[in-house]
Amino acid sequence: MYKDIKIINQNNEGEGIAKINNKVVFIPYALKNDIIDLEIIKNNKNFDIGKIVNINKSSNERREVICPYYYNCGGCNIMHQLYNYQLEFKKNKIINNLKHIADIDINNIDIEYDNEYYYRNHITLSVSGDKIGFLKTNSNDIVDIDKCMISNDIINDKINEIRIFLNKYKDNNIDKISIKSYKEILINIESNNFNLKDEFIKYVKCDSLYLNNKLIYGKDKIDIDFGKHKFKISNRSFFQKNTNVAIKLYDYIKDNVDVNSNVLDLYCGIGSIGIYIANKAKSVLGIEIIEDAVKDAENNAILNNIDNIKFISGKVEDNISNIDNIDTIIVDPPRVGINKNAINDIIKINPNKIVYVSCNSTTLARDINYLKEYYSIKKIKAFDMFPNTYHCESITVLERR
Ligand SMILES: C[S@@+](CC[C@H](N)C(=O)[O-])C[C@H]1O[C@@H](n2cnc3c(N)ncnc32)[C@H](O)[C@@H]1O
Repeated sequence: MYKDIKIINQNNEGEGIAKINNKVVFIPYALKNDIIDLEIIKNNKNFDIGKIVNINKSSNERREVICPYYYNCGGCNIMHQLYNYQLEFKKNKIINNLKHIADIDINNIDIEYDNEYYYRNHITLSVSGDKIGFLKTNSNDIVDIDKCMISNDIINDKINEIRIFLNKYKDNNIDKISIKSYKEILINIESNNFNLKDEFIKYVKCDSLYLNNKLIYGKDKIDIDFGKHKFKISNRSFFQKNTNVAIKLYDYIKDNVDVNSNVLDLYCGIGSIGIYIANKAKSVLGIEIIEDAVKDAENNAILNNIDNIKFISGKVEDNISNIDNIDTIIVDPPRVGINKNAINDIIKINPNKIVYVSCNSTTLARDINYLKEYYSIKKIKAFDMFPNTYHCESITVLERR
């Protein structure tokens, strides 16, 4: 055991960083300026993993957590940090990644936020017999929960209803349950052998029930209310998981689209960004890999009376090499960031502006490093889409040099 070790900083995953005998140690749940006793639980080549044995002096960033499952459950990672320090951590993470990966200096970033708890509109929980919850970090053990402090009230109601069902039918063979809760509720069950549909819907009220991504009850699409807009979403399509922060995010995107411009909306999901900004643009073309999401997008354009938008179903990297006459490209890729060939095509399309929506500042910085010969950062803003976790969303507005 190592005694009285001072935590010097926080890594990208929100873990405390200490140095022992010149080797870096990452310690989950430790915060800057904590003084702790710790044990090394894993040795790696370049860093070790430590475990707090005792906190001798507590960081002023630390708080009591209100979630009874937090220190076992792998769902959240920085709930023990006061919220204003979580926001600082997220801003600094983006600034540091841009500095270290793209060699770009940003002095400060504003961050938008909303409710710290009860914000998630979609979760996937593991099930085993009558247990339901997230998996313990690095393990297959389920942390059995009655309530998730970061999920919205309707999801928590559904967890209660599901628990009553699970208690009654322990031999349910369910592996996972995903709950989407917007204006309406969609549930997808993952199981190799589930035959309790009628019993399930008797206990768990929902608008739509899928089994292994196939509709078995109710509507194929459910309704989302999103500010003045209405969207419909089917089971496989992506939608932003924190509706209030997503509205702030979309407003910022819209503010940064020029009036009467031709816009390319890459990684467009159910078309929601393109539809949100369409009345400011001359035309919008959305591209998305999930076919069902493209069908949702076409349907959503009609639902919102938008007639200057079109969609292509396919991979971004396979579909943009022949596109021209674009003023602004909006990109909202998954965590892996933009494919390198797609970045080269974006450079060839040569838009005035790129509005980069990112959920991973490491790949954001990597992609901006490729783009920086041609584009410079005009604005950057962070959005705390996932309070109490280390994840952070951001929008970077890049303009052609
Ligand atoms: C972060 S989501 C953004 C969705 C949408 N812009 C929104 O605001 O809801 C990323 C989307 O990219 C899609 N996607 C992932 N890889 C892709 C690829 N190579 N080409 C096109 N779409 C892709 C996913 O299916 C998902 O819908």
